[in-house]
Amino acid sequence: EMDKFVTELMKKMTIEEKIGQLNLPVTGEITTGQARNSGVARQIEQGLVGGVLNLKGVDKIREVQKLAVENSRLGIPLLFGMDVVHGYETIFPIPLGLSCSWNLAAIQESARIAAVEASADGICWTFSPMVDISRDPRWGRVSEGNGEDPFLGGAIARAMVLGYQGANNEQQLQRDDEIMACVKHFALYGAGEAGRDYNTVDMSRNRMFNEYLYPYQAAVEAGVSSVMASFNEVDGIPATANHWLMTDVLRRQWNFNGFVVTDFTGISEMVAHGIGDLQTVSARALNAGVDMDMVSEGFIGTLKQSLVQGKISMETLNTACRRILEAKYKLGLFDNPYKYCDLKRPTRDIFTKAHRKAARRIAAESFVLLKNEPFNKIDKNGTTTHSLSPLLPLKKEGTVAVIGPLGNTRSNMPGTWSVAARLNDYPSLYEGLKEMLAGKVNVIHAKGSNLINDAAYEERATMFGRSLNRDQRTNQEMLDEALKVANNADVIVAALGESSEMSGESSCRTNLNLPDVQRTLLEALLKTGKPVILTLFTGRPLTLTWEHKNVPAILNVWFGGSEAAYAIGDVLFGDVNPSGKLTMTFPKNVGQIPLFYNHKNTGRPLQNGKWFEKFRSNYLDVDNDALYPFGYGLSYTTFQYGDIVLNTPTMKQNETITATIQVTNSGKYDGAEVVQLYIRDLVGSITRPVRELKGFKKIFLKAGESKTVSFKITADLLRFYDYDLNQVTEPGEFDIFIGGSSQATKTARLTLK
Ligand code: IFM
Repeated sequence: EMDKFVTELMKKMTIEEKIGQLNLPVTGEITTGQARNSGVARQIEQGLVGGVLNLKGVDKIREVQKLAVENSRLGIPLLFGMDVVHGYETIFPIPLGLSCSWNLAAIQESARIAAVEASADGICWTFSPMVDISRDPRWGRVSEGNGEDPFLGGAIARAMVLGYQGANNEQQLQRDDEIMACVKHFALYGAGEAGRDYNTVDMSRNRMFNEYLYPYQAAVEAGVSSVMASFNEVDGIPATANHWLMTDVLRRQWNFNGFVVTDFTGISEMVAHGIGDLQTVSARALNAGVDMDMVSEGFIGTLKQSLVQGKISMETLNTACRRILEAKYKLGLFDNPYKYCDLKRPTRDIFTKAHRKAARRIAAESFVLLKNEPFNKIDKNGTTTHSLSPLLPLKKEGTVAVIGPLGNTRSNMPGTWSVAARLNDYPSLYEGLKEMLAGKVNVIHAKGSNLINDAAYEERATMFGRSLNRDQRTNQEMLDEALKVANNADVIVAALGESSEMSGESSCRTNLNLPDVQRTLLEALLKTGKPVILTLFTGRPLTLTWEHKNVPAILNVWFGGSEAAYAIGDVLFGDVNPSGKLTMTFPKNVGQIPLFYNHKNTGRPLQNGKWFEKFRSNYLDVDNDALYPFGYGLSYTTFQYGDIVLNTPTMKQNETITATIQVTNSGKYDGAEVVQLYIRDLVGSITRPVRELKGFKKIFLKAGESKTVSFKITADLLRFYDYDLNQVTEPGEFDIFIGGSSQATKTARLTLK
């Protein structure tokens, strides 16, 4: 059916109209790069546009669709794409935070709600999920990904695609509240040198296949409709012109049958990469397997000439055009170009109570409790009163002071890449706590300091309408006010960290400490002798060595989205027991980067428990350990693990064995635990990581309850790419680890025959 329809339509199309389908200009108020296209309406009427990017509002979209359908010669409907990255108007935590929930059902639900809202407002295509593995927290865009692990990243990629496109693989995109997903940025965008955005990537193929490519492939297997090319080069050729990547790997090896779009001005940027003028790079992109040109106008401007000159073939052009038309067909736009333009839907479906309730629940699951120790009170005479219980959760009584530059900032709550957010409709932390604790807790606030002392740096870190209203008072004046407010409080919630635009695109940092002025504020708050909880807003792992040593409780809340304030209140006051676990390592200092759990052993590994030994792989000034490792996160309760039981210690290639462990909630609170399975291949034909995540289950245990958790281990889980990039499972011995973090110590040995 589809083939016939598209073939018939293409017979009627001129070369210009075919090239027009490959053209994706940006219009509207939202721009996510420096460029903006002009004359788009005219181009649409001439049939020279395939889709439009980041136009917001169903009424506007309907009008633009009408231009295409009624005024262009063939009436081919447009695609309307947008960066709906972690929610539409109801905003969920930034993806790095979401990943820390390790709750695939919740992650899928967040994408589903985003699809319902975006589709109600005219959008049929989102530029999500972003699945770039990264081991470098200097890179600002770690906030948009799922951390450092390919196994977890693959599982999340799948969940997101199903959430956007529809859970039933056979019937995706049939409903008017399901939208096309776009997995990005293909490939290796998270591995730029020195953590600097858009920088060069150079990596062995072995590392690519074993450590970086799996999440993109998982999205393809889940049926993702489109793939976005990354800005970086791969093997010396920008991804956007890389035939090996876009055709050999993506289409031939992985059988991808959707379409490939460039990232923003990805085509014209290849001129600066130094591989040719606009005509040359446009032809190279098309020949590599790229189908749609976002913003550059390289395709629309030069492909005709390249065709005449024989630099591209009619067949290649037809293939790309067909892929775009097929996407429109699968969406049902030829049946009803206004499928996503029901003007009644926005009020019914966007920012609803039910969506906000889900966002609040899911945000609370994304928070990671990094530290929670008893607070020992020291009085004026220096006498210490020791407490037995950890500082959190707080009781709903007395006075709580929310202090810090992030304590009362609405526009900062949703986090980076939330282009459709209604920035003023979400409560700040102070406002949210005040509202939810009214009548029980007296909530007071002081700013205490600016975000960053350097005004120019603060300006760079608060772009896109996320200004924190820089205070013109002196540091001392702000500090004095904060100490006065603190003196009236029983507990201090220090709201510190990054502004939402300090991470995200083009927001790389070389110093990952809390900005000095915030550290000074924190020190002063600690000196008051009152209990201080560091409520940390951040889009990336920070270096918190000092804070870990000096602050009794640290709750990492990332950027929790529109309902973040309430969710933070839920966790601080014990209505929700935190269960998030880190998906990216927190280093002790920047010099340790890249630091990740699934590293190789080297020929001179440091012995367990040792910091330094001469002629071993280590540093003179810091040990090799993370401050907070991958998989780590505390709860208000404690979990104990029994021993691992394997139903048999040896397995054949086609067998499945079961690893079982008993987990007990040994504390006083009900709570959820992420039980993690890691495997180490002890001897291989190539070197293998010291351990790799191969399974996880999030379980809920009442206080005192025990549950048996089991994992099936098949040869699939033991498979890797060998030197020649063949997938192999090599016989030999494997260590199995199960526990509550990548440091899990319970272990068993398995032999594969
Ligand atoms: O989808 C984004 C991409 O992640 C970064 N550059 C701009 C694109 C469209 O806004």
